[in-house]
Amino acid sequence: DPRQKPFLKKGFLDFPKTFNKGIYLSDRNRIFLYRRKDTVTMAKLQIRKVGDEALRKVCRPVDAITPRILTLLDDMVETMRAANGVGLAAPQVGILRRIVVIEVEPGEVIELINPKIIAFSGEQDGQEGCLSVPGRWGMVKRPMHVTVRALNRKGEEFEITGHELLARCFCHELDHLDGTLYTDKAYSMDEDDE
Ligand code: NI
Repeated sequence: DPRQKPFLKKGFLDFPKTFNKGIYLSDRNRIFLYRRKDTVTMAKLQIRKVGDEALRKVCRPVDAITPRILTLLDDMVETMRAANGVGLAAPQVGILRRIVVIEVEPGEVIELINPKIIAFSGEQDGQEGCLSVPGRWGMVKRPMHVTVRALNRKGEEFEITGHELLARCFCHELDHLDGTLYTDKAYSMDEDDE
């Protein structure tokens, strides 16, 4: 039967190895396929710098975890690590979606899709920098404890509480999703000497 010919192609036989089932997040209950993380070739993305209008937009929620979103998460982690950052928000790579990656503890990547701060307490003063604001540092008051609710890459809702640097990082990165930079909130700024 000639209609079956395409299915005999060698490439098709690899399909089940490189794809997994993913969940469509809308109420349409549709099932999508996406590539598994370990089969994706990561790519470094260009980080937008202050002055770029993407950094000042309010980002839209993710309504479906598509292959593009999973690739974006992988690429954002790669980009964050290459730039020695502890956090990166999607608008920093020009994607106006509510997505954040964080790696405060090496090897412990936190991926946040549609994150919301649902609780915070306490207060801390500390210095912040931003990959989109190179060579500058600023003192910002933040809560000491922050709880975030978000979706993971499987579309499952979860909550995570951060203290100190992680709490600061949650605030800084989530601010990016609403077009806010830490420089808007800093009460003093410093510049690198170089
Ligand atoms: Ni930043």
